[in-house]
Amino acid sequence: MRTDVAIVGAGPAGLVLAHLLARAGIGSVVLETHSREHVESRVRAGVLEAGTADLLERTGVGDRMRQQGMIHRGIELSFGGRRHRVDLAGLTGRTITVYGQQEVVRDLIAARLGAGLPLIFDAKSVRLSGLDTSAPLVRFRHDGEEVELTADVVAGCDGHHGVCRQAVPDGVLRTYRRDYPYAWLGVLAQAPPASEELVYTRHERGFALFSMRSPAVTRLYLQVAPDEDVAGWPDERIWAELHRRLRTNDGFDVHEGDVLEKGVTPMRSVVTEPMRYGRLFLAGDAAHIVPPTGAKGMNLAIADVAVLAGALVTWYATGDEAGLAAYSRTCLRRVWRVQHFSWWMTSMLHATDRDDPYEHRLQLAQLDSVTQSLAYATSLAENYVGLPLDCAAAGLP
Ligand code: APR
Ligand code: PHB
Repeated sequence: MRTDVAIVGAGPAGLVLAHLLARAGIGSVVLETHSREHVESRVRAGVLEAGTADLLERTGVGDRMRQQGMIHRGIELSFGGRRHRVDLAGLTGRTITVYGQQEVVRDLIAARLGAGLPLIFDAKSVRLSGLDTSAPLVRFRHDGEEVELTADVVAGCDGHHGVCRQAVPDGVLRTYRRDYPYAWLGVLAQAPPASEELVYTRHERGFALFSMRSPAVTRLYLQVAPDEDVAGWPDERIWAELHRRLRTNDGFDVHEGDVLEKGVTPMRSVVTEPMRYGRLFLAGDAAHIVPPTGAKGMNLAIADVAVLAGALVTWYATGDEAGLAAYSRTCLRRVWRVQHFSWWMTSMLHATDRDDPYEHRLQLAQLDSVTQSLAYATSLAENYVGLPLDCAAAGLP
C-alpha cells in the first residue's frame, strides 16, 4: 500500500488532518488501533474554541455542531460561595461552542467514510521505520494480515500512549512535564443543566466543574486524589460532594439525575520537543498534554494539524519545505502559551494537597484580580476563547 501521508490515530488531530489534506487533494490513510464504536463513544472534553468551531464549519463538517452544539458567551468562576461571570463575548467579541469531542470525531469519521476515503480501524501492532529517509514505512496487522504502508510523511496523531513518539531514537526528543497531586473524577448525568454557562469552582474541599452536553445531559467534575479508585465513589457520594462544592449563596445547585458514566482522569502537563523527527511529524496529545482546566486539549491538537496541513499543502504544490521546517517551532509557540494558561487555571482553582494556607491566599488574590480587573479578565477570556488559528496555514481562504 502507498499513500502521500500516513496518519496514525483517529482522534481529533488525525481526523482533522486527513480532512484538510483531502480538501487539498492530498492522499492519506488513517490507521486507528481501536474500533469505530470505541472511538465514537469515548467521553472526552467538550469545549470548542471560536477558531476550532469556525474551522469545522468552513470545511464542511460543522452541520451537526451548528444544530446541536451550544454557543456560550461567558463562563462563571465560583469561590467563597459566590459566582462571578467572565463575559467572554463582551471581552473578546468571540464565543465558545459546547459540543462533545466524540461528536466531533463522529462527524469527521462520517465525512471521511462518506467520501470513500481510507480509514482503517482495528489496526494492530503499528510500527514505524525509515523515518530519517524520504520513504518512511508503517507496518501494521489488520484482519490477521501483515500490511506495509509507504508514504512521503508520517503524522503521529496517536495520543499520549501512542507508538509514534516512541519510534524516535533516544536522545533526540526532550520532554518537559509536571504531574499534579490530584485527578478529576468525571461524571456524565442524565439531568438538565442547572446553569446556562460552565461554572469553575474553587472550594476548600477541592475544585469542581459544572458543564453540560445537551439540554438534558450534565457533565460534572470533582477534584480527587491522583490514585482515586472510582469504586469508592457510589452515586450518592458523588452527588453529596457536588452539592457541597458547587452550591452558591445565590441558590445555584446541580440537578441530580442518573449517572451515565464516571471515570478518573489524571492531571498532567507534558511537552515533547521538537515535534518532528525526519519525516515524522507529531501532533496533538502525541506531542503534548495539558490539564483539562482550560479546556484546551482538543483545540490544541486541531491547531497543530492546521499548521501541518498548511505546510504539507505548500510542500506538495511547490516543493517549498519552509513550512515543514518551521512546523515544530510554529506549533510550540502556541503550545507553550496554552501550557501556561492551562497550568495557571489549574493552579488557581485546585485545593493543594498540603492545604498550604499561603497558597490558598494567593489563589484567592488571583481570583479577586480576574473577577475585578478588566485586564486580568480579558487575558483569561482571550485564552479561553482561543488564540487565533492561522487559517491560511490550514489552506483555507
Ligand atoms: N496505532 C494507531 N492508533 C493509535 C495507536 C497506535 N499505536 N495508539 C493510539 N492510537 C489512537 C487512539 O486510539 C486514539 O483514537 O490514536 C488516537 C489519538 O487520539 P486522541 O487521544 O484523542 O488524541 P488527539 O487526536 O491528539 O486529540 C487530543 O484528545 O485525549 C484528548 O484531552 C485530549 O482533548 C485532547 C484530544
Ligand atoms: C467538559 O465539558 O467536558 C469540560 C469543560 C470544560 C473544561 C473541561 C471539560 O475545562
